[in-house]
Amino acid sequence: MPYSKNYDVLIIGSGGAGLSLALNMPASVRVAVLSKFALTAGSTYYAQGGISAVFDAEDSIESHIEDTLDAGAGLCNPDIVRLTVTQGKSSIEWLRQQGVAFTEEQTATGEKILHLNREGGHSHRRIVHTADATGKAVSLSLIDRAREHANIELLEHHNVIELITTPTANHAGKKIIGAYVLDSQRQKVKTMTSKVVVLATGGASKVYLYSTNPQSATGDGIALAWRAGCRISNMEFMQFHPTCLYHPKAQSFLISEAVRGEGGKLILPDGSPFMQDFDPRAELAPRDIVARAIDHEIKKRGIDCVYLDISHKPEAFILEHFPTIHRKCLKFGIDITKQPIPVVPSAHYTCGGVLTDSYARTDIANLYAIGEVASTGLHGANRMASNSLLECLVFAERAGIDILQKLPAIAAPPDVPEWDDSQVSDSDEEVVVSHNWDELRHFMWDYVGIVRTDKRLHRAMSRVELLKSEIAEYYSNFRVTSDLLELRNLVIVAELIIRCAQQRKESRGLHYTLDYPDVDNSKPPQNTILIP
Ligand code: FAD
Ligand code: SIN
Repeated sequence: MPYSKNYDVLIIGSGGAGLSLALNMPASVRVAVLSKFALTAGSTYYAQGGISAVFDAEDSIESHIEDTLDAGAGLCNPDIVRLTVTQGKSSIEWLRQQGVAFTEEQTATGEKILHLNREGGHSHRRIVHTADATGKAVSLSLIDRAREHANIELLEHHNVIELITTPTANHAGKKIIGAYVLDSQRQKVKTMTSKVVVLATGGASKVYLYSTNPQSATGDGIALAWRAGCRISNMEFMQFHPTCLYHPKAQSFLISEAVRGEGGKLILPDGSPFMQDFDPRAELAPRDIVARAIDHEIKKRGIDCVYLDISHKPEAFILEHFPTIHRKCLKFGIDITKQPIPVVPSAHYTCGGVLTDSYARTDIANLYAIGEVASTGLHGANRMASNSLLECLVFAERAGIDILQKLPAIAAPPDVPEWDDSQVSDSDEEVVVSHNWDELRHFMWDYVGIVRTDKRLHRAMSRVELLKSEIAEYYSNFRVTSDLLELRNLVIVAELIIRCAQQRKESRGLHYTLDYPDVDNSKPPQNTILIP
């Protein structure tokens, strides 16, 4: 039976960005929020450290702007940085209205104020948090609120296969009109039309073998937008978080930067500190510097990991501030109140993505991109810790303003053909998908990781080309599955990362190459923009 449904606003993604936008829509607007897995599947749920905002009396908007620009290594858009940072306080207030309970502390006069964490790159304490599980608090509150709104339909296990646009000879003048969506529990493809479509699909760090991200982070929104005709920018700036738990049985568990913010020391296996040899800010240097320093020590010494030690702090302090990390490490036999934590860098955040303007508009009319999928200009060449959730909230609000202004003038989408799978069969070789998936993530880690070279990038690109044609053939012969869709998107994301990295003939921010180890100061810093 064909299935089609029509909405005013179709939001692809149920993380902080997607749900915030849905909650910004009035009751008269028919909204659908899709998640390819459960509603809590995105990175938002796993966020630990918190959300940056200026609350401390000693802090200032100007200082937050300056730190963000400094981390971004010359490529932040200063207007976007200012408008985002300025919204910090009101975004936190909005989250509190949605029911998020942030950690508080009592002043000497008995007044309750927000407790603020400190993280790398921030010159002040400015991270609002809920102990070390901020994302869980945000995600669950937003889901609860969204469930209370009759105009918001929440659809889990709905995986977008392809965006639908009005047909045009080239990409110019295209309009979005909906998406084909695989209902993976019923194995049925649905046609969803909508006046407005919003990509809120999160990042792409799962393109790497080791990542802090959940399974959902396969860069689907970036690949969907690229295939539909949007420009993609700055994909070479993939951020590696310095401290992911190193344990054979711990899958992608992050040790928050807040641990370093509260005095955690990075040490070698013999107990000696090393960060001061790399940057005067030592453990509190921005992430790119800390991740590269750890990578350097691991490779130079042939060791498996370095260690993060917070055990000098009182046990009660550690249990109060890092209960989740304490519990998780204990499961693997590591008592962080007494022992250092084995850590390695892992792929963590996609600074580039779908190019958007200050209202989250993409190159295609009525198609928006918000959250980690977007490249707004906030992060430049390196995102500063805890600026990401803030970006999700600010751009969800701004997209909402623009959508509400435009919606009355957008015509109802035309009828579109149903998804046609009459020419394909069920796969008899699923192993091709799992094999290609493993291969892709291995060579991306080895050749397009923290330290790159022209030769490594060239090797990676040759493999991408082979995989792309094999996956395209598989896609045209077999019925779609969630794994196949993710692989098809991941290989495009890999290609975009490599292409951007090949274009940048310098080292800047998160992009470091041995062939061009210095910043190119001979011309003004430039974004890398790929045109489909
Ligand atoms: P996500 O929360 O990732 O949500 C993506 C959504 O899109 C999911 O619902 C997913 O199912 C859906 N989706 C994806 N593809 C499809 C598809 N094809 N069809 C349908 N649905 C799809 N940032 C901070 O600012 N502070 C922190 O403390 C912090 N800590 C972090 C800790 C960890 C472990 C991680 C992984 C990230 C952390 N970050 C932090 C980064 C931050 O969490 C993310 O950048 C942010 O949550 C992204 O939100 P989002 O709404 O854009 O996407
Ligand atoms: C962390 O808690 O270290 C993650 C913060 C971030 O990625 O912004």
